[in-house]
Amino acid sequence: MSDRYKLRSYFPKDKQSVHQMIIEEFGHDYSVRSVWKFRKSKPIEKLGLIVSDTFYSHHGEIVASLQYWPIKIAEYNSLLLGPLVVKDHLKGKGIGSLLINSSLKMIKNSGWNFCLVSGEPDYYPKFGFKPVPDNLLWPGPIERQRLQYIGLGDLDLEKLTNKPLTILSDI
Ligand SMILES: CC(C)(COP(=O)(O)OP(=O)(O)OC[C@H]1O[C@@H](n2cnc3c(N)ncnc32)[C@H](O)[C@@H]1OP(=O)(O)O)[C@@H](O)C(=O)NCCC(=O)NCCS
Repeated sequence: MSDRYKLRSYFPKDKQSVHQMIIEEFGHDYSVRSVWKFRKSKPIEKLGLIVSDTFYSHHGEIVASLQYWPIKIAEYNSLLLGPLVVKDHLKGKGIGSLLINSSLKMIKNSGWNFCLVSGEPDYYPKFGFKPVPDNLLWPGPIERQRLQYIGLGDLDLEKLTNKPLTILSDI
């Protein structure tokens, strides 16, 4: 990836630009998707990552963004990944991978149990994501294979088979 693209932390002032990118990618009705039932409060600021293009200005134009939201899977504090958005003209250049790999380094072994994503079934396995077990409950229509997760600590989600696993938006 060229030096003109810089990875940095999310700042509150980025909110509007990130929102605009989400609308451009997913449309104005992005929040009707069932995954948004778990994005009730606000993303965890300190886990947000931005890639900016510094070619035209020192501060840079935001060209990619990744956010995480707090959820509970059963009683376990966990993270919901997304939205992950890369501007169209920069897709396929490794920016999405950079965002995911950098953030996984931050969130692994830092007190969170699992990271859940609703995303492309062919995209996330390269980062270690696996299909969720059948006992994970999802409130609404979804192609089940989109639901994937990665363990962030010592617990194994597949071993928690003795009960239905509900997801709660951790407000
Ligand atoms: C999905 C997305 C984030 C990927 O970002 P990206 O920067 O284009 O991806 P990368 O360049 O890091 O791709 C890495 C690899 O994944 C592959 N890949 C990219 N997009 C993919 C997709 N949608 N499905 C499967 N594989 C994909 C690439 O071909 C590349 O493969 P390689 O390593 O063999 O060359 C981006 O295409 C996007 O913004 N999509 C729309 C929004 C979305 O679906 N977000 C995810 C749900 S929140």
